[in-house]
Amino acid sequence: TTALPPGYTIRELQKKDKAEVLEVLTVLTTVGDISNAAWDERFEYISKHDDTYTILCILDDKGRVCATGSLIVERKFIRNCGLVGHIEDIAVARDQQGKKLGLRMINALDYIAEKAGCYKSILDCSESNRGFYEKCGFKFAGIEMARYY
Ligand code: ACO
Repeated sequence: TTALPPGYTIRELQKKDKAEVLEVLTVLTTVGDISNAAWDERFEYISKHDDTYTILCILDDKGRVCATGSLIVERKFIRNCGLVGHIEDIAVARDQQGKKLGLRMINALDYIAEKAGCYKSILDCSESNRGFYEKCGFKFAGIEMARYY
């Protein structure tokens, strides 16, 4: 897999990452004003379901979160009770883009999905990110549909 720049590290999300990871996620979409109580509750839920949720962070050479990404393992009946990895919320801080951190994040989530026994991983993205995911080894596989509530 791709090496991280010198001094950069990758690890699972920690409770203390709140401010830094939420800031990184603003490159993706609206994050909202999340209280400490709401963060703690969601963090505890995710930690308790660690066979389903993996959230990774890349830290820069100053120890600050500069990229994040998630894997959710879905348990199916089809494919002999197969498992499918869902890659979600890939975000690299604007001033850290183009250093292969996104690629490294996808490599790490792919590795975890395969080790967990997933037969495939899938994700939704905009047309503007198609080239990035193709460089990560993903193939175009249809269209995304959504209903917002
Ligand atoms: N279109 C085409 N190619 C791209 C794009 C793009 N939008 N972005 C990166 N690439 C290429 C790079 O040039 C590089 O190619 P190379 O190996 O030939 O040099 C390769 O893909 C790897 O690029 P990285 O440096 O790893 O990309 P980066 O670290 O900047 O991460 C990302 C890419 C995640 C899209 C980042 O720019 C970002 O956070 N964007 C804003 C948020 C976003 O759109 N996230 C993805 C949403 S989809 C989802 O979460 C499932």
